Amino acid sequence: MRRPLRPLLPALLLAGASACGGTAPDGSASSIAGVAATHGDSLSGRALAAILGCGACHPGAPAPPGGAAGGPPLSGLSERWAPADLASWLADPVPLREGVIARMPDFHLEPAEAAAATMHLLRGAGSRQARAAIARLGEEHAGATAERGAAIVQALNCAGCHAGSGAEAWAPGPPLDGIRDRLRPDWLRSFLAAPRPIRPFGYHPGSGARMPDFRLSRAEADSLASWMYGEELRASAAPAMPRPLSPFASRKAELLLRDHLACLGCHTLGGEGGRIAPALDGAAARLRPDYLRRIVATPGRAAPGSIMPAPLEDSATMELITRYLHGRATTADTDRYLSLVDNVPVRPDRSGQRTPAALYGAYCAPCHGVGGAGDGFNAPHLPARPTPHADSTHMSARPDATLFDGIHGGGHILGRSHRMPGFGATLSTSEIDGLVDYLRLLCACAQPDWAVAP
Ligand code: HEC
Ligand code: HEC
Ligand code: HEC
Ligand code: HEC
Repeated sequence: MRRPLRPLLPALLLAGASACGGTAPDGSASSIAGVAATHGDSLSGRALAAILGCGACHPGAPAPPGGAAGGPPLSGLSERWAPADLASWLADPVPLREGVIARMPDFHLEPAEAAAATMHLLRGAGSRQARAAIARLGEEHAGATAERGAAIVQALNCAGCHAGSGAEAWAPGPPLDGIRDRLRPDWLRSFLAAPRPIRPFGYHPGSGARMPDFRLSRAEADSLASWMYGEELRASAAPAMPRPLSPFASRKAELLLRDHLACLGCHTLGGEGGRIAPALDGAAARLRPDYLRRIVATPGRAAPGSIMPAPLEDSATMELITRYLHGRATTADTDRYLSLVDNVPVRPDRSGQRTPAALYGAYCAPCHGVGGAGDGFNAPHLPARPTPHADSTHMSARPDATLFDGIHGGGHILGRSHRMPGFGATLSTSEIDGLVDYLRLLCACAQPDWAVAP
């Protein structure tokens, strides 16, 4: 049973915006979503982005009007919601009020994730009955606890739109102002209409953030896309694609990806590989050809701040891979978010400092784990277990020079898994030295005596 909100919610009441329009062009104003869509359809993309609160998560998008958050304060929820009702609404948030454009987006929560978030949001519930119902949610959903719920609410940036969530607002999404140079407009329009997972555990890998589904109407999605692209949207024809590879060259690229390069340590291809980064299937359907070329050749310049390492291979090899990816333009429909109950989301360090701890957290922890236990969220998706850097028995047998070489050149130069990437073209020599020292902190151990220069 759902309890509709009283009409005078303390929400930001979109004055001007909510005053317009009644029936949808096709006359189907019967559903609440239909009414909301009617209002939204008549707005400019920029105004719609502000009202929906895109700027709560994306740098480069307008913030909600008046600086207010887009949703009502999450206080006193236990007076309005029974725990089981709130959990099922969070997993499928149908509009609570009629005729309002702002809406609670759908975060694709699994039942256990919604239960955990509910346990956190209703943690202050006073009545014995409510407390029993909250305890029942925990029993019914393995892994759901109020603590995990707090981490979920933090990771998904509920605080970007709601006061009183017990979390801090942050910007978990990619900047929207550079979208035009990266994404193909046809891909963007279909993504906005039905967002799906791109980076399975966050744009900042490990953060667990997701692009929620606002259940936009086609017209709303198009109006947001026009705002991001301007006139170009109508003018854009399908961009020219490079010539396809010969079967021999294709096979060569496949073998390189399978047996030599580290790409599939972070990316999936054909459903196989790491879950840190976007699937490589369909990258050509998503990205502009020139951006695809740039991100493979010079990732630091194409996607500043991303952990994708600069290639150590020659440019002919990278060109071959780029052309191979152009031939794999079909999107794999297998992409799923990683569970926020089974994996612990970590708030990224946004200080911009390049201390060894910050570098380890960004570049190494997705596989090796924050504390170096070899248990990062990506570890189950690798063919070899990431070395547990905190294991002193293992680590005290490794000379510092070997660790340096592995970080610099990648696992394959140590005869270990090539899915361990080489960072020699990404991190400076002194940064890699700093990381070797940091591994020694994690294991609380030193290299073997024989390795120490006399
Ligand atoms: C609660 C936070 C949140 C809100 C609100 C939000 N986004 Fe996002 N958005 C994200 C995250 C996180 C991603 C990255 C998702 C991924 O990689 O799977 C993303 C991805 C995107 C992308 C794809 C960009 C890329 O490079 O992959 C677009 C486009 C986008 N959002 C547009 C919007 C628009 C338009 C709105 C407002 C209607 C909006 N977002 C509201 C969090 C949010
Ligand atoms: C982009 C802005 C936005 C984000 C992000 C967002 N919400 Fe909402 N939320 C809303 C809006 C708008 C409403 C009001 C919905 C309505 O009236 O139909 C709402 C309503 C709610 C309500 C019902 C409030 C009440 O008083 O009964 C709850 C609970 C809620 N949100 C929880 C969450 C949680 C948990 C998250 C994070 C997982 C979240 N919201 C993220 C915009 C947002
Ligand atoms: C350490 C992890 C890592 C490795 C190794 C890696 N990448 Fe990436 N890659 C990323 C991340 C993270 C992104 C997402 C950047 C962003 O946020 O837009 C990315 C983005 C990309 C993109 C753009 C995808 C899109 O849809 O936006 C392509 C194409 C790509 N990488 C290709 C490769 C290739 C080819 C290799 C091997 C030569 C490789 N990557 C190695 C982490 C990695
Ligand atoms: C995409 C996942 C991934 C990322 C990212 C990653 N590693 Fe690894 N790493 C591995 C795997 C898997 C192994 C184990 C290879 C094996 O044993 O075959 C490994 C092995 C190593 C080794 C070799 C240890 C030994 O036993 O000799 C070192 C050193 C290392 N990683 C350091 C790092 C550092 C430092 C970073 C961050 C700058 C990092 N790794 C990032 C997956 C990763």
